[in-house]
Amino acid sequence: MTDLKVLITRDAIAKRVGELGADITKDFSGQSIILLGVLKGAAIFLSDLARHVKLDATFDFIGVSSYGNRPSPASELKSGWDSTGEVRLLKDVDQSLKDKNVILVEDILDTGLTMTYLKKLLMARQPRSLKVAALLDKPSRRKLPLEGDYVGFKIPDEFVVGYGLDYAEKYRNLADICVVPRE
Ligand code: IMP
Repeated sequence: MTDLKVLITRDAIAKRVGELGADITKDFSGQSIILLGVLKGAAIFLSDLARHVKLDATFDFIGVSSYGNRPSPASELKSGWDSTGEVRLLKDVDQSLKDKNVILVEDILDTGLTMTYLKKLLMARQPRSLKVAALLDKPSRRKLPLEGDYVGFKIPDEFVVGYGLDYAEKYRNLADICVVPRE
């Protein structure tokens, strides 16, 4: 696949991630936070965001996958990914979240199913606060009502790759966010 079109440049990403880091720094002034990345797509966003957060911060990671009917990458590209909403936990966090300020760091909010599942799971651990930071948001695809607290860019209903996001596990290492053309 060579026909990738840049949607958001590396410079625009860097600027916006800096702004999100500053917002988090201001909102949690004087407190400590856990940056909780959702594997694997959020890894690059988390590592850049963390360097703009001027707070006492630690990292943790959680791994999920959608059950059942995730289609092949090719059909996902054509018609999007309509998961059943059943999410499977592949890797849990390494620590207690009780009374902690947790910021869930996600690459993209799409239908909202994954994040709704994660928020419910993590709220049961009684954190002091739970916020969602997402680099990208496709609000037109939402199936469950969900708003990110720190959102980088709202984008149209396109399938995007780069800066951590994949197509069949590829392209995560692209520095820009690119649109994969639908045939
Ligand atoms: P949701 O549960 O539908 O909100 O799905 C969120 C997950 O779907 C993200 O964490 C991504 O892994 C994946 N996803 C959704 N849209 C895209 C996209 O455009 N490119 C790559 N992955 C995507």
